[in-house]
Amino acid sequence: MKFFIDSANLEAIREVKAMGMCDGVTTNPSLMAKEGRTDTDALLKEICAIAQGPVSGEVTALDAAGMIEEGKRLAALDDHMVVKVPTTYEGLKAIAALSGEGIPVNATLVFSTNQCLLVAKAGAAYVSPFVGRLDDVGEDGMDLIADAVEIYQNYDLETEIIVASVRSPMHVADSALLGADIATIPPDVIKKLVAHPLTDKGLAGFMKDWEKLQGGTGS
Ligand code: E4P
Repeated sequence: MKFFIDSANLEAIREVKAMGMCDGVTTNPSLMAKEGRTDTDALLKEICAIAQGPVSGEVTALDAAGMIEEGKRLAALDDHMVVKVPTTYEGLKAIAALSGEGIPVNATLVFSTNQCLLVAKAGAAYVSPFVGRLDDVGEDGMDLIADAVEIYQNYDLETEIIVASVRSPMHVADSALLGADIATIPPDVIKKLVAHPLTDKGLAGFMKDWEKLQGGTGS
């Protein structure tokens, strides 16, 4: 399973890339706003240079014509750019038009099985079901991932499934067990993935015994 980093923070992306855990990056208007930079095109280009893999930048127009125009502009920024389009009625038109021109689209804000089916039919390269936000309203977000995997297998649809709105290590493990193509993971969750109390406890024990030996008290 590929790991994308769900962030627009250059330092965080660089750090995760250096440990081999960044196959791509996803951003959205909220993540971009967090960085406080108004030169958003320049920021996306810098992210592409670090990631050297697919980088999603989201359109902000709400009508199809505006999304298509903005999508073409974003795609021209760098060969790694993927255009993120919200899954609305207007969005579907834009997904079909941009995909038809060979521009990779990541269909975002996906919350239902039918939305997964529709965006694949429209030609989206990626679909992003938001599991954490579904959990937040009392549904099981991972059920949607299971549905998407099954439907795409049933019809040999090539759209790659990005598990989005990941909040915990369990989301990542469950994504891999279900066969999702990608999980887009916030940097703080990447840190949690490697942590285990028994690793820390075991290491503390090894260090204590090693220090005893160095102090000549071991026997
Ligand atoms: C996906 O591409 C989105 O950027 C992201 O996963 C949204 O996550 P959130 O629900 O934590 O905002």
